[in-house]
Amino acid sequence: MSFIDKNILIAGGSSGIGLAAVSGLATAGANVYNLSRTVSNLWPSGVKHHAFDIGSENTVPDGFLPDRLHGLVYAVGSINLKPFNRLTPDDFMNDYMLNVIGAVRVIQLALPALKRSGNAGIVLISSVAAGVGMGFHSSVAAAKGAINGLTLALAAELASNKIRVNAVAPSLTDTPLAAHLLNTPEKRDASALRHPLGRIGTTEDIASAIIFLLSGQSAWMTGQIIGVDGGMGHIYRG
Ligand SMILES: NC(=O)c1ccc[n+]([C@@H]2O[C@H](COP(=O)([O-])OP(=O)(O)OC[C@H]3O[C@@H](n4cnc5c(N)ncnc54)[C@H](OP(=O)(O)O)[C@@H]3O)[C@@H](O)[C@H]2O)c1
Repeated sequence: MSFIDKNILIAGGSSGIGLAAVSGLATAGANVYNLSRTVSNLWPSGVKHHAFDIGSENTVPDGFLPDRLHGLVYAVGSINLKPFNRLTPDDFMNDYMLNVIGAVRVIQLALPALKRSGNAGIVLISSVAAGVGMGFHSSVAAAKGAINGLTLALAAELASNKIRVNAVAPSLTDTPLAAHLLNTPEKRDASALRHPLGRIGTTEDIASAIIFLLSGQSAWMTGQIIGVDGGMGHIYRG
């Protein structure tokens, strides 16, 4: 897949899944624009970065974004797992803020440039937990369920602007965000065995689906929530 002359904005490209998407897109020739609080020393050369805290900002300096954007990935999010009775309303608000309102802010600031390209893709990141009930996931599942709804509604609203809107829904993926779930060999093995395909996800597993959904290879796909989950989302293991 070639992204030569394509401008792609990523929010959350300094780590984990977003970082793998930055690397894959840059390797495919894209001009990559990143929003996050910190930079990564693993970025390929040429990534344009603006320090941005999703919780408090909703504009970027004039001239940071190109006139036309061909893609947007919102890879900021959380995995806040607690028993329901230990989750506070603030936990729910914080997860909603980071996962949903942050995506709304970034989509709104990118929308004029996405429209000007005449053919663009937006990829949001949901979770397997928004489609399958999982204990301790109520806050993140509620926020990611909202991402699924946002994906469908925006796909409908933006189709006439030739902007496709899709989401990927990962299961447990080896990133800094998930480190506390994978920090012993026992936890890693148990997590791998819970997945029908017998392993946890890699950042490349998820990034390759993101890159596909931004590319012309998925030109007739919009309003889809694609599970990239080792089979966790749809396979019963009785
Ligand atoms: N890893 C998993 O198992 C898993 C499973 C299902 C879904 N997901 C979802 O996948 C997405 C990516 O997660 P990940 O595991 O790759 O996480 P990660 O490694 O922690 O990366 C998160 C990215 O978001 C940025 N970010 C976080 N808070 C921010 C803020 N307030 N303002 C601006 N940027 C912020 C971080 O950059 P800075 O720190 O530099 O700001 C980083 O680039 C999330 O939506 C997550 O919910 C992950």
